[in-house]
Amino acid sequence: MQTFLHGKDLITTQEWTKDELDTVLDVAFELKRARALGIPHAHLRDKTLALLFFFSSTRTRSSFESGMAQLGGHAAFIDHSTTQISHGDTATEIGEIFGRYYDGIAIRNVDWGIGNKYMRDVAAASRAPLLNMQCEIYHPFQILADLMTIIEKKGDPRGKTITVSWAYASSYLKPISVPQSLILLMTRFGMNVRLVHPPEYKLMPDIVEQAKENAKRAKTSFEIMDDFDAGMKDSDVIYAKSWGPLLVTDDDAEGKRINDKYQDWITDERRINMAKDNAIYMHPLPADRNIEVTDGVIDGPHSVVFDQAENRLHVQKAVMALTM
Ligand code: CP
Repeated sequence: MQTFLHGKDLITTQEWTKDELDTVLDVAFELKRARALGIPHAHLRDKTLALLFFFSSTRTRSSFESGMAQLGGHAAFIDHSTTQISHGDTATEIGEIFGRYYDGIAIRNVDWGIGNKYMRDVAAASRAPLLNMQCEIYHPFQILADLMTIIEKKGDPRGKTITVSWAYASSYLKPISVPQSLILLMTRFGMNVRLVHPPEYKLMPDIVEQAKENAKRAKTSFEIMDDFDAGMKDSDVIYAKSWGPLLVTDDDAEGKRINDKYQDWITDERRINMAKDNAIYMHPLPADRNIEVTDGVIDGPHSVVFDQAENRLHVQKAVMALTM
């Protein structure tokens, strides 16, 4: 267990050692038990966290706000449009100033080619740790919650197969940060990872290379496939969600034209039955119901999506308590 984490940024899990991530999981389980038993755990009394959002959120905002309150501190929700950022406050100035007001700075900015650099610029100027609530490349708190959920449902993740698949959605071009973060983390924890997508939905080559290297080090497998049905076969964990063809285009109309070619990529009862009998279905939410996944699957016996959403609270509390 590695416990010296005070002041450490969490922008990608790749920058944390496996020992450090094991500590996060251990503390998350402890905090989950404490909350269930009504045991107070005010580890962050009198501490404050800025939650700076450049994009909408249901789960992330609520779980960070609630988590900070449960830890005895306070989270300040800041919608960027209510700040002076568009009038000239630079990332460096936000880091310098918020780093003096707050004990942590959490940011969501998923703008393509902008979000991750913005966070790193804020982090470089801040004396307080930077927590990535999702950028265009990574969504670290989502996948830590996902890993916690897999451990709860399946035990030791080593040797289990996870299918990280693209699925069709009509609502908007969703970021690629979830599948990218999944292939990075699950390979490190010894899962056999299948990345499944139509040709236009490739992930960043650098991220794919890192996932291959992680798999090699963990002596596990990492496969890329383009057949949804084949990807489901005998899998332990089905994690199928939409993302935009962002390496091909970030234009909404062109992206939708490409998306619409693959409307049959839905997680339905026929497909979930190709996985193992006790397979779990995961999705970070929000899902396009009956487009991306049928009601029968997302509300059915394989689905763990609400436990998965709950675990956002526990892993975030663990990271906040350890770093702030
Ligand atoms: N899964 C997730 O990040 O949800 P929100 O976009 O609602 O925060």
